Amino acid sequence: MNPKSLLTMKDLSNAEILDILNDAKAFNSSHSDWQIPVSSRKLTANLFFEPSTRTHFSFESAEYQLGLQAADLAPDSSSVTKGETLYDTCRTFESLGYGVLVIRHPQDEYFKELENVKIPIINAGDGKGNHPTQCLLDLLTMYNEFGHLDGLNVLICGDVAHSRVAASNKEALEKFGANVRFAGPKEWEREGYPFSDFDESIPWADVVIMLRIQRERGAKIDGMSDAEYLERYGLTLEREKKMKDHAIIMHPAPVNRGVEIDTNLVECERSRIFEQMKNGVLVRKAVLRRALGFAPFGRSEC
Ligand code: CP
Repeated sequence: MNPKSLLTMKDLSNAEILDILNDAKAFNSSHSDWQIPVSSRKLTANLFFEPSTRTHFSFESAEYQLGLQAADLAPDSSSVTKGETLYDTCRTFESLGYGVLVIRHPQDEYFKELENVKIPIINAGDGKGNHPTQCLLDLLTMYNEFGHLDGLNVLICGDVAHSRVAASNKEALEKFGANVRFAGPKEWEREGYPFSDFDESIPWADVVIMLRIQRERGAKIDGMSDAEYLERYGLTLEREKKMKDHAIIMHPAPVNRGVEIDTNLVECERSRIFEQMKNGVLVRKAVLRRALGFAPFGRSEC
């Protein structure tokens, strides 16, 4: 596997995570129009085997802004329909001269079968396993808000069992000394992620992250309507009033308004949901730059 790949948050030390966040912040200011020099540009291929709006098109936006040429694989009109494996598809792109692969796939840890692919792979989400670039944009959003991650109280609520966002965020936030609690329906408790009482944890949290019900992965609660779910496990207007004054609301999106969150809270003053999406382009620019072998802006060595 190429050492510039980014597959899980375990691939990054705390210093490397901070480098990516600092690069993303730099892109937002003085380096906002900074592009990869023409001689170092590589073709990138976006291989999305699952639906995506934010991740797919923020990678496209980042690639375009960096001056990179990107191609999109549409699995349904590709040779995947003829039975070509993920490994052979990736080796094909490598043989065709592509220099970076961005991959989303429904299989947990799909990348374990790609060890012989030599070009960098950026994981855009694997099943319920990992979503490292979502985690980085979440960290950037919290870092911008509070100026630090250590000691932050972060409450993650909802379909934790099927959430790669919950998994990557737990991994990274705990490495930085944040306190992470989980809550939601007992059916969706995940081994190693013990649930706390949601209503007791709301006033404790500096950050409340609501998760979407991952119906495409089989998540369901028998007999419960959307309105009942919101009332029991969602972020209602009543619960929002119990949040600390400075606390913020986050959600990886897509949002099911009126299910995991009241529609009036999606764009309320303490919501950072659309800010997260903006930050997604910045961190993906930083991650692509790293994949191409560039040192962080603050460092001179390659
Ligand atoms: N947050 C996220 O991954 O959104 P998409 O599925 O739209 O990419």
